[in-house]
Amino acid sequence: MSQSVHVHAFCDLLDGGGVVDDPEQIATYTTDQRQLFTGSTFAVLKPATTKQVADIVRVAARQSIGIVPQGGNTSYCGGATPDASGRQIIVSLERMDRIREVDPVSMSISVDAGAILKNVQDAAATAGLLLPLSLGAEGSCRIGGNIGTNAGGLSVVRYGMTRDLLLGIEAVLSDGTVVSDMRKLRKNNTGYDIKQCFVGSEGTLGIVTGAVLRLAPLPIRRATAWLKLAMDAPLAELLALVRRESADLLTTFEFMTARSIALASEAMTNPPSVRAGAGGTVLAEFASSSRHLDLDGLMEAVLAEAIESGWIEDAFLAQSGSQRTAMWEVRETIPEGEKRRNGSVKHDISVPLSSIQRFLDLAGSQVRSYDADLELSVYGHVGDGNLHYNVLVPPGVDRIAFTKRIESGLSLQLYDTAAALDGTFSAEHGVGRFKKHLLERYGDVGRIAAMRRIKTAFDPADIMNAGAMVRPLGKGSAS
Ligand code: FAD
Ligand code: MLT
Ligand code: ZN
Repeated sequence: MSQSVHVHAFCDLLDGGGVVDDPEQIATYTTDQRQLFTGSTFAVLKPATTKQVADIVRVAARQSIGIVPQGGNTSYCGGATPDASGRQIIVSLERMDRIREVDPVSMSISVDAGAILKNVQDAAATAGLLLPLSLGAEGSCRIGGNIGTNAGGLSVVRYGMTRDLLLGIEAVLSDGTVVSDMRKLRKNNTGYDIKQCFVGSEGTLGIVTGAVLRLAPLPIRRATAWLKLAMDAPLAELLALVRRESADLLTTFEFMTARSIALASEAMTNPPSVRAGAGGTVLAEFASSSRHLDLDGLMEAVLAEAIESGWIEDAFLAQSGSQRTAMWEVRETIPEGEKRRNGSVKHDISVPLSSIQRFLDLAGSQVRSYDADLELSVYGHVGDGNLHYNVLVPPGVDRIAFTKRIESGLSLQLYDTAAALDGTFSAEHGVGRFKKHLLERYGDVGRIAAMRRIKTAFDPADIMNAGAMVRPLGKGSAS
């Protein structure tokens, strides 16, 4: 059957605005966030209801057309991008963006999977509650994509990743079956936890169409501090001190090196005057929903202890909302700062907290002996053992050629180091199309076999995002 016949079949299923087959419009969906790869498709479908998603999947399955689910297309590993065959359609959830229900008593929110993260946060806040998932892309990423990648972000140290916030799910399987499990239950031991299969599945098991997320009390007080680290400050010990002495009120513990701060400052209109210490900076924040806690006093006491221990040179406590915003803006502008300079080769590693310092030491020597002229931008969610250990693309150099060179050489050395320390090559950004070879290289054989069995059970014909992450059994090698 020709592609135009397929397009007609999909037009019959969706109303006028639901099928995009104009090449110019399609082009905005086929390149990945980092602009490393452009795929090909004959149509982007934008269903408006779960039934339409199920109808699309049934037709696609009958015609052996592959499906790539897409949310905000902000992910970093090419998982939301179709391959070059032109045989996969993109199913964008952008028209399914309703907030279905906020339940302040159960402390949950039910949404369409195409809802933009920021809109879900705002809906929760309007009801006096917090959706504790926050990341730089929150203005454009969508809940289905957050589930697909198990997004982490800036408050994992307190609230966990997307996985920890998911109470219920609605999803369409590869034969059009709808899983309707939009329950608000914290406890439900009635067999396999199917919703968790979709978390981090990167569109390879089905299309998530709805989700119920757990909310928390909305903080009304925050204490935000900029810690100037002493040279070789022990990050894990500092984190342990801050957690213990704050009675775990810590919501953020973000590490930034001076280079990353400088990149962010260059990209900001009004950068604050704060500087890093000799060992970098930690942005730490306490948050509380209680009026009765003196968070500033608590933060001052904790910082005094850290200064006394010699781990920090100095610290600034934000004295106003605008000072807090400025500190946060520095952290959140780092990816943009890297991009403006000519981009970076990203290494989203994590190691056990006890090995963070060791990783920094070993990786530093590896970079110096690979090429002493390379510049790094190192920052990340150290509270979660997660570092963005990024190699900056030198200005004027071809970004893609440089990325390929680093990824086939130095990157593997860095990942080997993370693996030797019992860490991982992808802490939060996923596997997608770009990191499949790393999953094969570093993944436990038994774990990959189990992943392939799950893929086979959900999607034996490999309709759902074929070419991303893992293949079903009987379809060649793992990836
Ligand atoms: P997409 O990129 O559209 O898709 C991601 C994957 O999920 C794809 O494999 C796709 O097929 C699948 N998918 C999408 N929708 C569905 C669905 N409805 N059903 C099934 N599968 C689906 N990530 C973090 O974890 N922490 C951060 O701090 C962070 N910061 C970022 C900052 C910036 C500036 C940017 C650009 C990105 C950042 N990211 C971060 C990465 C990215 O934002 C997250 O991975 C996000 O969760 C992706 O959501 P999305 O809607 O854009 O998904
Ligand atoms: C972040 O933490 O800012 C992102 O995950 C890293 C990035 O955007 O490169
Ligand atoms: Zn991150």
